[in-house]
Amino acid sequence: MKEISPFDGRRSYIIPGDVEETISFAAHHWIHTALRSIQQRGRFAVALSGGATPKAIYQKLLALWEQKGDEGLDWGKVHLFWSDERGVPPDHPESNYRMALESGLKKLPISPSHIHRMEASPPTLESASLYEQKIEKLLGKELFDLVMLGIGEDGHTASLFPGTEALKEEKRLVIPNYLPDKNVWRMTLTFPCIERSRKAVFYLLGEGKRGIVPQVLLSGQEGPFPASRVGTTERPALLILDRAAARDLPQ
Ligand code: 6PG
Repeated sequence: MKEISPFDGRRSYIIPGDVEETISFAAHHWIHTALRSIQQRGRFAVALSGGATPKAIYQKLLALWEQKGDEGLDWGKVHLFWSDERGVPPDHPESNYRMALESGLKKLPISPSHIHRMEASPPTLESASLYEQKIEKLLGKELFDLVMLGIGEDGHTASLFPGTEALKEEKRLVIPNYLPDKNVWRMTLTFPCIERSRKAVFYLLGEGKRGIVPQVLLSGQEGPFPASRVGTTERPALLILDRAAARDLPQ
């Protein structure tokens, strides 16, 4: 399956092949999305995700730039934001900011003034509101050109975990969220923020995702899995999965 296929009215998917082929497809898709955004709106604003899969994509983006395989993308027009952050300082091993930069993005010719760290140490209402103001001021009505997302084995996405308060948010774009199971606070984009953005893409690699994929796709928006709520009929979410993650994808 090498084409994008509709799953339902709100989600579409593509299975580019094995892990390597999927990472390569995801990086090229990212670059095409960036090129199109810059052509249409003069900028590419992306919300980066934490997790192992995006890390491989960031490494691939750096490799493509080094090999001049980035199709002449004007990195000076790229703005980096984050879709969620852990309540740790930016140099902490668990920081999503650190992970994205260390895995390659800091070597790309992106202006430091375009790297908009999600300040979350600690995740307070005040820092959430400052990030929200920044997003609204810099991005305008339609917010992000791309929101990168993963899906956890419990169906969470960004730091929108099952049963947590942040799922109820109807207005704010960024909020702190307490995760009782882990007894930690995180900072996260909200559903209204993801919905107002142009494109949400889920990246799913490996056997570990095999079980949650059909559950997220088949359960309704009101079901137990936060990731099921992403995607609208106007702007369907895209799932990019490798063969292992897609093994039980409902046909
Ligand atoms: C994080 C995330 C989180 C992640 C999923 C999937 O900060 O951990 O943003 O939502 O995307 O847990 O992570 P993997 O890709 O590592 O499975």
